[in-house]
Amino acid sequence: MSDTSPEPEIVRVRLGDRSYDIVVGHGALSQLGARLAPLLKRKRVFVLTDESVARLHMGALDAALTPSGITTEVLALAPGEQSKSFSNLERILDWLLGAGADRSDILVAFGGGVIGDIAGLAASLMKRGMGFVQVPTTLLSQVDSSVGGKTAVNTPRGKNMIGAFYQPRFVIADTALLATLPARDLRAGYAEVLKYGLINDAAFFDWLEAHGADVLALAPDAIQHAVATSCRAKAAIVAEDETEGGVRALLNLGHTFGHAVEAANQYRPDVLHGEAVALGMVLAFRYGAAEGITSPDAAAKVARVIAASGLPVELGKVPGGPYEATELADLMKQDKKARGGQVPLILARAIGQAYIHPDADLKSVAAFLMGELEKA
Ligand code: GLY
Repeated sequence: MSDTSPEPEIVRVRLGDRSYDIVVGHGALSQLGARLAPLLKRKRVFVLTDESVARLHMGALDAALTPSGITTEVLALAPGEQSKSFSNLERILDWLLGAGADRSDILVAFGGGVIGDIAGLAASLMKRGMGFVQVPTTLLSQVDSSVGGKTAVNTPRGKNMIGAFYQPRFVIADTALLATLPARDLRAGYAEVLKYGLINDAAFFDWLEAHGADVLALAPDAIQHAVATSCRAKAAIVAEDETEGGVRALLNLGHTFGHAVEAANQYRPDVLHGEAVALGMVLAFRYGAAEGITSPDAAAKVARVIAASGLPVELGKVPGGPYEATELADLMKQDKKARGGQVPLILARAIGQAYIHPDADLKSVAAFLMGELEKA
């Protein structure tokens, strides 16, 4: 892997007349002004960000817009998941209305998943839909939440309970922005990159096994290849099933186990979402092996590669424990699609061969989790 930056790569999300490009690469942000200009009636955009991203990267965003003469109106929220709230949604809408925004204007989401999710929802509601552009600044948001049009806020009754599908006009994933991410956040986002290999691309998983250290070191061509391949994988799934009637559920590999751990830990930051997903993917492969669905060798390889990336693979050692197997299985029962003691789980026959297992029995899941906890 060389250290020079390749040309940014374009990934197309094919959704008929709502199709859009994702521009991926080191320095891709410099394309922002030229891509916005033809979409604007007035040379002004609204930018929603958080205070940390504004401090670190607003200069780069301004520099990307100056050559096109586009000015900005900026609202910066406090960083963190608690900002993804109804009260902030109202605040954003009030800010847009107060500044005279209309449907021909564009709201740019400049930040991680929290900013992208709440900005997208605000854009969908603003006069029944204003333009929306994603400029994700974390690895997690570059490979997952900025792609595919899921938007949401949290409520005290649960995360992402209020939302809409609303696609952006384009996405710019500038991998140079990842340089300021704490190493732990980078690793947590990397869990979602590994996920795409595990779902349907064994060759990509092997590539990640060989080059994961380069990706995490942000070597320009390695990180670009990892982000672009992830976006291509997600774009293909979203093009087939935008609103998660079927195959899009594969993107939840590791999430049912992972969400149970996050919920049992009350979403405290000692277990990040990506860390819970990493552990959840290992548990899905091990559960598959316990049920005779997945080869034990595949489950062992998944755990080995995920552990080598510095991500958790043992339920008994994850912070916030000790967890209880029955409590975790009960939390899995709260899955929207759980019915009568059974829950759909994303399992895999092999690496790169994930499928929707419609009716995992929660008693056998609890017994499996008990075994996992006893290993510790
Ligand atoms: N993060 C999963 C999805 O977008 O469907």
